Amino acid sequence: MDPETAATLSAPGAWDLLQSLPEYDEGAALAVGTRLRAAGHDPALVAAVLTQSRLRLRGRVKFGDRVERMLLTQDGVEQATRWQLAARHAARFAEAGLETVWDLGCGLGGDALALAAAGLRVEAVDADPTTAALAAHNLDGVAGARVRRALIEELDLGHDPGVGAWLDPARRLPGRTDARGRTARTFSLDQLSPTWDQVQRVAATVQHAGAKLAPSFPHHEIPGGAEAQWASFGGEALECVLWWGDLVRHAGRTAQVHVGTTEGGQWHEVTDDGCGPAPVASGPDDIGEWLHEPDRAVLQAGLIGVLARLASGTETAPGVGYVTGPAPVDVPWARPFRVRSVHSLSTKALRRWAHEEDIGALTIKKRSMPIDPDRLRHDLRLRGTREAVVVLTPVARQPMLLEVSPVAQRQPR
Ligand SMILES: C[S@@+](CC[C@H](N)C(=O)[O-])C[C@H]1O[C@@H](n2cnc3c(N)ncnc32)[C@H](O)[C@@H]1O
Repeated sequence: MDPETAATLSAPGAWDLLQSLPEYDEGAALAVGTRLRAAGHDPALVAAVLTQSRLRLRGRVKFGDRVERMLLTQDGVEQATRWQLAARHAARFAEAGLETVWDLGCGLGGDALALAAAGLRVEAVDADPTTAALAAHNLDGVAGARVRRALIEELDLGHDPGVGAWLDPARRLPGRTDARGRTARTFSLDQLSPTWDQVQRVAATVQHAGAKLAPSFPHHEIPGGAEAQWASFGGEALECVLWWGDLVRHAGRTAQVHVGTTEGGQWHEVTDDGCGPAPVASGPDDIGEWLHEPDRAVLQAGLIGVLARLASGTETAPGVGYVTGPAPVDVPWARPFRVRSVHSLSTKALRRWAHEEDIGALTIKKRSMPIDPDRLRHDLRLRGTREAVVVLTPVARQPMLLEVSPVAQRQPR
């Protein structure tokens, strides 16, 4: 957001006008804008409140109903932590007995709101003056929360054992946009803002610290004694949070998986129980009666060994994540499938199989297989009446197709 728009939104009457708008509807936005301008409102103000109204629709996913009291930017909404995860992070600080948390690079204040809601005092700072001003608005009246514009490197963080720090470095490259006009993202630790070095320096100074990084965070970068926890929500791996000091629950790699509805549901934690990496199938004969597809966070945390041990089975290929075994495993963070048949990836043989099995449609799941699913469907000339689910995976370096049947799992609410 440019400073002029921020000034427009903080002018007298702007907030009341924004709050008076109906829920944003793309189809009606033009008419609403015309009506407001005709009523005498400044066109710049009308544009600014309509943009805020549109951002609230997207922001609701991240902030829930709190969004009604917030001012937003597109980048800020995209980068903000989902409130369900922010609440989990905040609970960790509270449960570790900390009283105050520095939110170092607070953005719009999503994490700061969750920290305050957990009963913690929050010292929120952001380098960007406009972002800091929006965060100050968003945290206005929130007990125990204070916002200021500052650079992390200017702060004296002190060594108080009751004080922790939270960092959520920006993974955007300001000034560079992607094909959809959004600020380009980076997956490189060198391009984070604050930098990975700064994050580690803060953790060394404050001792009890947490830092939210991308789910692609490399395992070899996990600092000694820290916990790296991957998290997924709605089946999507969203983050890897590093925890230091008293915030560590299990040093090493862990995962937390949310299962169930957005509003309710349950969290399940998976920890490396010392079982090491999963053994790998040595050939198609090792494919058992069951195949399991783990949640993405568990896969990215490299905890497939835990699933393989529970399944008394093997991973179909290193790092692929599919685990096969003789019996189904009943855990909320992995989906079991019954294996109906196993095939080499020969077009001719698969065409015959699809014909004999009366297959007319294929749902294709695949990992580590550079195959275009549409091309495969086309090559198999599917003419039957039955829909089949297949998994494409290498097994002992051989590309294989497994026909599987999904099994209904208990659904938490
Ligand atoms: C990903 S956003 C934080 C989002 C926030 N946790 C939330 O949930 O709303 C990162 C923020 O860090 C700020 N930042 C980057 N480098 C900084 C620095 N050296 N000092 C202070 N803030 C910084 C950026 O301006 C940006 O607003």
